[in-house]
Amino acid sequence: MSENTQQTGWLSAGRVLVIALVAVILVLGVILVVMAVSESDAVSGGTEKVNALANSDNECVDCHERNTPGIIQQYGHSTMAAADVMCEDCHEVEEGYPGSVEHEGTYVLNSPTSAMCQDCHTQEVREFEASRHGLPAYVAYNGTAGMTEDQMAEFGAIPEGSYAPDKSRNDIYAIEGEAVTRFACEVCHNVGKPAPDGSTGQCQKCHLRHDFSLEQARKPETCNQCHIGPDHPQWEIYQESPHGIAYMTMGHDWNWEAEPGTLTVEDIPAATCAVCHMSGFGETATTHDVGERLTWYLFAPISERRPAWESNKVRMQGVCLECHNDNFIDAFYTDGDLLVEHINAWVVESNEVVQPLKDNGLLTAEPFDEPIDFIYFDLWHHWGRTAKFGAWMQGPDYTQWHGAYELLRNMAELKEITNERLEDAGLLEEAEADAGEDS
Ligand code: HEC
Ligand code: HEC
Ligand code: HEC
Ligand code: HEC
Ligand code: HEC
Ligand code: HEC
Ligand code: HEC
Ligand code: HEC
Repeated sequence: MSENTQQTGWLSAGRVLVIALVAVILVLGVILVVMAVSESDAVSGGTEKVNALANSDNECVDCHERNTPGIIQQYGHSTMAAADVMCEDCHEVEEGYPGSVEHEGTYVLNSPTSAMCQDCHTQEVREFEASRHGLPAYVAYNGTAGMTEDQMAEFGAIPEGSYAPDKSRNDIYAIEGEAVTRFACEVCHNVGKPAPDGSTGQCQKCHLRHDFSLEQARKPETCNQCHIGPDHPQWEIYQESPHGIAYMTMGHDWNWEAEPGTLTVEDIPAATCAVCHMSGFGETATTHDVGERLTWYLFAPISERRPAWESNKVRMQGVCLECHNDNFIDAFYTDGDLLVEHINAWVVESNEVVQPLKDNGLLTAEPFDEPIDFIYFDLWHHWGRTAKFGAWMQGPDYTQWHGAYELLRNMAELKEITNERLEDAGLLEEAEADAGEDS
């Protein structure tokens, strides 16, 4: 073997090595690129919506692109923009339309009403108007003062709304006054406030403008704006329920954008607020009437059955049965009903405890001016309700420590205060004798 051939041998071995190295680098590079591309696909779900308004020559869009680019961005990515629904469809009205303002040679509503949505979403609006998210939510703080004949008829036609239609509303509203309630009661209860054009409610409380995203409306956080706090802690209860845990640990993978009416357990494998109360799910039809699947008036001090409770029950159980079996759900309802009756009995008892104070004029006539008024109110308004909600929506801590336990504590305080007052008035023995006769 000559030196020459030896050299060529080394050389070609070196070349092979370099080529191999280059090849490895190239392959690695390609793999990295592929990974990066597929990752960005995963982030966008592979179906990133394009901005449908990007090349629009609509004059509202053209000018608002400069003045309020955020609105164009949000709306541009909505399903409605892709379906050619434009700014004018929701905002533009004829001259003199109630609540309108003159704008760029036409008339617009700053806050489109449900009458605007109704042109295209008749059924959703009708169902919404038949629910407690409609006028009953508004009447809850305002009463029926100022409502038109048509609105009274709409209100009267809601079976759930005519439940104690003009009872004295929460006295706290008047006591606190407008300066406070405008940031409190009204923010939540205006979901059903009538608009200047006479139509009902604010769809945008759940369908945040201008995305109008199904994912956003369907997620339970949307409901927690209002269904939260000591008197209706549905959100807190949900968080500690197995359904809520499934949502919080695995919900990021679920198919939130499934076409309305096609949703099944394949898209959303554990229950959410919307799945149980609103969504079309499996065999059950979508509804914007949130009372349509309920059997009790749980929010009431003493719960009664709803007018159509039997068919409502079939609808709610239809949802449960997509994931649970018959016996499990039947047994659950039997136990839930028993709990409601048990809480009812305690609230009846608390009424009996304070009755002698009422009979003997030992309570002031003013509402909420002495601690006993608050104790008596909290007993059912916070703890009684919470115990019931906790049981029906799988929140054991709420049924127990924020519910039944607090209720019993308030009951003991009521008894103590009542006895003290009766004793001070020299009426204790008489009252005890009366109670003995009654039982
Ligand atoms: C030539 C520009 C221009 C055009 C065209 C235009 N707007 Fe505006 N619009 C504005 C500006 C500027 C504002 C005020 C923004 C602000 O105050 O931040 C505004 C405000 C609004 C408001 C809120 C009004 C208020 O009083 O708060 C609405 C609703 C609105 N525009 C809708 C529309 C609609 C619908 C169209 C198409 C029919 C349209 N605009 C066309 C520039 C325009
Ligand atoms: C599907 C109905 C709908 C469409 C379409 C729509 N809007 Fe709106 N818009 C609303 C609702 C609902 C509100 C919120 C009112 C409220 O909360 O009081 C609103 C509020 C506004 C406001 C005032 C409040 C703010 O955030 O500044 C402006 C300005 C506005 N829209 C502009 C537009 C423009 C421009 C377009 C078209 C690109 C458009 N809107 C398309 C329903 C719509
Ligand atoms: C001019 C007709 C029109 C008006 C007015 C209108 N919509 Fe729509 N909306 C549509 C159409 C069409 C779709 C269906 C888009 C699709 O599924 O392709 C839709 C879909 C929706 C969706 C489902 C979005 C999705 O991703 O599937 C919501 C929520 C919605 N609209 C809310 C509203 C609200 C709230 C109003 C009033 C403030 C309103 N719409 C006014 C025509 C309209
Ligand atoms: C955080 C939102 C929120 C605030 C703030 C709020 N509520 Fe409510 N309210 C609700 C919800 C949600 C219900 C439904 C409870 C249920 O059915 O479980 C309700 C139920 C009621 C009811 C019983 C139902 C009825 O129509 O008879 C009345 C009355 C009521 N609220 C009045 C008020 C008053 C008055 C205030 C202010 C002092 C107020 N609420 C503050 C969300 C709120
Ligand atoms: C309490 C919250 C809430 C309110 C208020 C509300 N929606 Fe919805 N909406 C939802 C949810 C949740 C869905 C998704 C239902 C599903 O899973 O298919 C939805 C879906 C829709 C859709 C898609 C088609 C369908 O029926 O599923 C339209 C259109 C719609 N809403 C219109 C409206 C209109 C118009 C109003 C006012 C009258 C309104 N919504 C008020 C929660 C709400
Ligand atoms: C802006 C506040 C608000 C939001 C957001 C909201 N609700 Fe409500 N909801 C209320 C109020 C207020 C009531 C009680 C109305 C009354 O006083 O009669 C209520 C009542 C209900 C009821 C009882 C209905 C009945 O017939 O007794 C159900 C169920 C309900 N809401 C479910 C939901 C679900 C599910 C969501 C989310 C998709 C949701 N709500 C979002 C304010 C809201
Ligand atoms: C597993 C299904 C399920 C889930 C998830 C669920 N609920 Fe419920 N909810 C129920 C049942 C069942 C009842 C009691 C029904 C009855 O009266 O027969 C109920 C009762 C209610 C009530 C009481 C209405 C009254 O009579 O006062 C409200 C309000 C409510 N739910 C809102 C919500 C909200 C908000 C969420 C999410 C944070 C939620 N629910 C999650 C099944 C569910
Ligand atoms: C989309 C599916 C789905 C729907 C709909 C659904 N659930 Fe569930 N449920 C689940 C899952 C998942 C669990 C967690 C199971 C576990 O603990 O292993 C669960 C757990 C429960 C539990 C707790 C069981 C335990 O071991 O503590 C109860 C009670 C329950 N569900 C009742 C209901 C009721 C009542 C309804 C209808 C109002 C309902 N569920 C609707 C999926 C669902």
